[in-house]
Amino acid sequence: MGTPAAISAKGLAVKAGRNVLLQPLNLSFADGEFVGVLGPSGCGKSTLLRCLAGLQPLSQGQVFLGLKPLEQLTSVERRKIGFVPQDDVVHGSLRVDRALTYTGRLMGLTGDALSGRVNQVIELLELQERRGVRTDKLSGGQRKRVSIAMELLGEPQVLFLDEPTAGLDPALEDSFMSSCQKLCRGGRTLLMSTHVMQSLDCLDLVLVLLKGHMIFLGPPQQGLSYFQVPSLTMIYKQLAQQDPLQAQQRFAASPLYQTYVAGRAP
Ligand SMILES: Nc1ncnc2c1ncn2[C@@H]1O[C@H](COP(=O)(O)OP(=O)(O)O)[C@@H](O)[C@H]1O
Ligand SMILES: [Mg+2]
Repeated sequence: MGTPAAISAKGLAVKAGRNVLLQPLNLSFADGEFVGVLGPSGCGKSTLLRCLAGLQPLSQGQVFLGLKPLEQLTSVERRKIGFVPQDDVVHGSLRVDRALTYTGRLMGLTGDALSGRVNQVIELLELQERRGVRTDKLSGGQRKRVSIAMELLGEPQVLFLDEPTAGLDPALEDSFMSSCQKLCRGGRTLLMSTHVMQSLDCLDLVLVLLKGHMIFLGPPQQGLSYFQVPSLTMIYKQLAQQDPLQAQQRFAASPLYQTYVAGRAP
């Protein structure tokens, strides 16, 4: 046996009444992996991230942090999972550094440990020049960085970001993605959902959902040949014409499924 996955799911499925929001799926991601969850609006991206983060109950299956099922985690272990929702939770009137200090204090940090950690996350997310600015004076991208910095104060091992690049222009998106890549280099696993994005090359893996079906999981470059597109931003037109079940079956029969799903079974 190798090292256990950072986060994994076995037979994860979600229903709401008669609607199946997520078909049963198996997933397993390693330490330091940067994963993008793509798919049209309403395909189940947020549902999947929330389930993996333990914020939404599953109808079937189990999620594991390392080897431990989420429901068995102690409150200290639960802090190893961070989640940044699509709508920012940053307080308006505080300066960036004060907002972070306040949040860190709520997490139980004090003294030098607190100020050290605040400086560290400010640097990591390249907020040095903005540290004295009120959060309501920040741009959307900067406010998103502050939301992520707040989660990082707790030093999560696995971090979920729900559509963090929505509203960023391509240049900002690029630099944001590089910051995220940097976060993963320290061994942190990062899962990010996105509706559409230019800079997918930073990602280690791309997961594509279509109406609750997993229809692709693999490196972005392999996605290009799988969908026969020059850029993954072009899959959406194709997805609109595909039958989700058939697309899932095609993926289940592919070598990529063997490598990235079956070969990684939790
Ligand atoms: N609590 C719920 N009850 C019923 N349907 C829901 C609920 N939450 C989400 N949905 C539906 O589930 C589907 C997936 O939603 P979501 O995960 O938010 O998709 P995405 O993030 O990809 O846009 C959507 O069709 C949405 O309307
Ligand atoms: Mg969503």
